[in-house]
Amino acid sequence: MDKQSQWKTSTGFILASAGSAIGLGAMWKFPYMAGIYGGGAFLLMFLIFTIFVGLPLLIMEFTVGKMGQTYTTKIYSKLTQKKWLNIIGWNGNLAVFVLFGFYSVIGGWIIIYIFNVAAQILSFNQTKLGEIQFESIIGSPVLTLIGQGVFILLTMLIVMLGVEKGLEKASKFMIPLLFIFLIIIVVKSLTLDGSIEGLKYILQPRLEDVSMEGVLFALGQSFFTLSLGTTGMITYASYASKDMPIKTSAVSIVLMNILVSVLAGLAIFPAIKSFGYKPTEGPGLLFKVLPKVFDQMAFGSGFYLIFLILFLFAALTSSISLLELNVSNFTKNDNTKRKPVAFWASILVFIISIPATLSFSSLSGIKFGAGTIFDNMDFLVSNILMPLGALGTTLVVGHLLNKNELKEHFGNNRFKLFLPWYYLVKFVLPIVIIVIFIVQFI
Ligand code: PFF
Repeated sequence: MDKQSQWKTSTGFILASAGSAIGLGAMWKFPYMAGIYGGGAFLLMFLIFTIFVGLPLLIMEFTVGKMGQTYTTKIYSKLTQKKWLNIIGWNGNLAVFVLFGFYSVIGGWIIIYIFNVAAQILSFNQTKLGEIQFESIIGSPVLTLIGQGVFILLTMLIVMLGVEKGLEKASKFMIPLLFIFLIIIVVKSLTLDGSIEGLKYILQPRLEDVSMEGVLFALGQSFFTLSLGTTGMITYASYASKDMPIKTSAVSIVLMNILVSVLAGLAIFPAIKSFGYKPTEGPGLLFKVLPKVFDQMAFGSGFYLIFLILFLFAALTSSISLLELNVSNFTKNDNTKRKPVAFWASILVFIISIPATLSFSSLSGIKFGAGTIFDNMDFLVSNILMPLGALGTTLVVGHLLNKNELKEHFGNNRFKLFLPWYYLVKFVLPIVIIVIFIVQFI
């Protein structure tokens, strides 16, 4: 299959890039980050960054992919004739390895939960939904390594067999279904005793909760959810046809992401307060709270199982974009090498993911920098490599590419958005990224 013509229609491209964006970031990471960094204050910062930084950057990555039409460890030199600039592509590739390493840990948890809940439904297991003990599941090194291995294996098989197209078709109904489920959870959460407290916590920005660290993590969160800076979105855009609608695709992806993040917040925070959890529980937050919410519903286990399957689906459409980036770069878009590259990249990811998984059990005592090994891997990717990658691309786009050619790929529209976007990318966004980046080291 010729990679460059993989997506004949723009729908395929939009579904795949929306699939890459919507995943664990919005549903799992957003609530726990918001819980640590001040609830409403974090939501507000996240919205500001997503709309004013994330959206223009996403349009930028789509434009670069569409212009360059090749894999991302070559695209920079192809566009600028400067070979060393391919380092931006390699930075993204490194980011993706580390990212997949810790992403698969959470993917593994979802798989373990699916088995656990299915066993309860089939009555192999006598524990009730509300009694699922997150700590005892996640504290088992063997179980979690198996879960994470299965998650990587599933991703690998999908990419190897090239069945992504089937998955994209499935997302046409899986994503709307996920929205419906999130809304059901929100409604249930809001009817719990004491839920108003939680609602206030996530919706009311309190100035005293804003910290420089929170600002940094909110920026990292908007990069993470939109898959920015890894060049993953450039890869997807490079597969798309010339006439794909860059701006409308980017806007719809950003809106969907915001919606899922907000719904996840509304689902989790009222329940946190109601069940007496702390918002600062960390990465386990969603996994601790949701079983309790479903436990309050009629047919709760069945609904929870369906939700977990949808959640897994969303995580897989993101992880395949991570592996796809490796396949694209290491096969140089030669599809005959697709299988071995997908295989070896997955093995490497599994090795990288072992210390991340064990951060929750045998290696939990090792803490430095941002916290556990898992926390440091996330910090390295979301707060360093992704912003660096995006910064590099803004400099290339703003200062090395031909403005008229950019305009041609950006496309016309009646709002005359090209120039505002161009100057934002050329001057404002690099400064924003640099300032926030430097502040974290002061
Ligand atoms: N955007 C994905 C999520 O929020 O789950 C994570 C991600 C996927 C980041 C692909 C980067 C990437 F290249």
